Amino acid sequence: MSVQATRARSSDPAAGDGAVPLSRWRQVLFNQAMSDAVPDVRPTAESVASLLEELDDHDRETIELRLERWSDDLVAALMVLYPEHDVAALALRLVQSAVAGHRRRSPELRRLDQRRLLRPDWLQQPGMFGYACYTDRFAGDLRGLRDRVDYLRDLGVSYLHLMPLLQPRDGDNDGGYAVQDYRAVRADLGDVEDLQRLASDLRGQGISLVLDLVLNHVAREHEWASRARAGESHYRDYFHVYPDRVMPDAYERTLPEVFPDFAPGNFTWDDELEGWVWTTFNEWQWDVNWANPDVLVEYAEIVLHLANLGVEVLRLDAIAFTWKRLGTHCQNQPEVHAVTQALRTVARIACPALAFKAEAIVGPRDLVQYLGQGAHAGRVSDLAYHNSLMVQVWSMLATGSTDLAKRALSALPTTPTSGTWICYVRCHDDIGWAIDDADAAAAGLDGPAHRRFLSNWYSGEHPGSWAHGLVFQHNPTTGDKRISGTAASLTGLADAETRHDAEGTGLGLARLFLAHALVAGWGGIPVVWSGDELGMPSDPHWARELGHEDDNRWAHRERLDWTLAARRSDLETVPGKVFQGLRHLAGVRAGLPQLHASALTRVLLETDDGVLAVLRTHPSGAMVCVYNVTASWQAIEVRHFADVGISQPFDALGGHRVFGGAEGWASLAPYAAWWVVQGP
Ligand code: GLC
Repeated sequence: MSVQATRARSSDPAAGDGAVPLSRWRQVLFNQAMSDAVPDVRPTAESVASLLEELDDHDRETIELRLERWSDDLVAALMVLYPEHDVAALALRLVQSAVAGHRRRSPELRRLDQRRLLRPDWLQQPGMFGYACYTDRFAGDLRGLRDRVDYLRDLGVSYLHLMPLLQPRDGDNDGGYAVQDYRAVRADLGDVEDLQRLASDLRGQGISLVLDLVLNHVAREHEWASRARAGESHYRDYFHVYPDRVMPDAYERTLPEVFPDFAPGNFTWDDELEGWVWTTFNEWQWDVNWANPDVLVEYAEIVLHLANLGVEVLRLDAIAFTWKRLGTHCQNQPEVHAVTQALRTVARIACPALAFKAEAIVGPRDLVQYLGQGAHAGRVSDLAYHNSLMVQVWSMLATGSTDLAKRALSALPTTPTSGTWICYVRCHDDIGWAIDDADAAAAGLDGPAHRRFLSNWYSGEHPGSWAHGLVFQHNPTTGDKRISGTAASLTGLADAETRHDAEGTGLGLARLFLAHALVAGWGGIPVVWSGDELGMPSDPHWARELGHEDDNRWAHRERLDWTLAARRSDLETVPGKVFQGLRHLAGVRAGLPQLHASALTRVLLETDDGVLAVLRTHPSGAMVCVYNVTASWQAIEVRHFADVGISQPFDALGGHRVFGGAEGWASLAPYAAWWVVQGP
């Protein structure tokens, strides 16, 4: 087969939707298709054939078919990223890596490839339910985790994100996000074989393993960085290094600071390097230079390595930051999507079961692109974090108003049908108030003032607040104040329990359940942050651990309390109520086809301010999720159900019929959550 030969058959990204402005690579491809004068940048048929010589007939045919399907995506991405380089040679290098990766793939994983190709929407199934935790804080180590799989199954988990577990630098390492060696496992957790065995065991029990691919930076102690410091120019070029402050100062003019408290500025002077190196996060996390194609090849190899260990989803950590452009805030640059597309294509050729998840905690307007828009549709990540939804959930709970959420969530561009949101209430990070000023203005709010209100509410400083979060990274210049804390501390549950306040406990429980119902009913993969399923409070002693003292995100990264977990079936206890509540959400979700992630989600705008109603349209019938975000009784007109064809409204969550009174309004208890479908 010929890679060149695919040109006529493959989709022409420049054709079809003339109304969409051509992005740079679409333009390149378009020009190329139009002009014979432009040399073909695809690898030649002969060069590809020689790579496949060693394969047996079956494998050769497999790879040929995948190349036929996907190699143009690779070439297109490389043309955007490296127009000055020999794109054909680079594509060939990557195909060579993919072929080698495929050869190393185990029979079990090849079968998984087949299975996923037969069900490409596997991540969109309503039965998907996620959990995220640190291995050590949840179960000690990788072997210990194998003994805790029953617990996860009990909750209904089918997707497990284990926080960074590849070998980090010694000392502070940002919770493992400063990787020293991508091919080794953190020694206290086990080794690569343990990881491989765990992945296989989990798969056997219907759980997909998700790991981070930290690809914006490496630890200062990573081999590439060490060799750069030792004077090897090849490796110096893996980083953004400047001999003086001229360029750093020029970039700083438009760069924000991610950790203004403990890592101000975006560049760090390194004596050994004799230069300023780009360090967006901490000074020992060196940003890699994606404009260097050798970096792409290195990461492609790492992707293949992790996929062949049995990892099913890679979380592309801090992907938004990977491409730098002077005069911008160096996030969400168009090349970021080409980087993803290149890596994704390599994976598709070698190990198509592997899915990608974008960790882009960016403004609502930039978010959807990470699921593939325009020329990147269907070619980048399958999953992305819906941080906008998460922020709106907390905003609704604090204000008791849905006005802003209705506007903000309806203003989001349509989600690509192949894309799936990771819907979450909490994660291991702080909450940044990603509220768009235009959305706030449309709701009659001042953006900065509302963000300030939310920070004050969730840190408990605002009068009347029930929340007990901690302020993370207050930036007096921008007024930015992020928030740390577990779901139980932010919903007031933990504090009310400590005070033996039965009413407060009830309200906290209701808020916690409502928040999880809202994200579980959105139609992506709900991911529960470890400890929240038991209503664990924030850890008051978070600062005691070495290296954690400046980073209060550790307050909500506590060790799972197995004494609480032992009470998970006892409905008389708080852990029992929370666990069984979330378990119920997972169970009901799994049986509702409307929660397939490809179904369209639309927020209904005509409900009362205290009520959010979300319509999901599906061939098997509509579903309307209804949430009372206030502590008082609210009502919804039952015509909203009839309007979308639900003549016998039935709340699948509560298991009851929904009746309108004489006036046609149904009453919603404080913080009620209903998933309304056509009843039996
Ligand atoms: C991501 C992680 C965060 C980390 C950062 C740098 O945002 O979620 O915990 O600090 O990347 O790697």
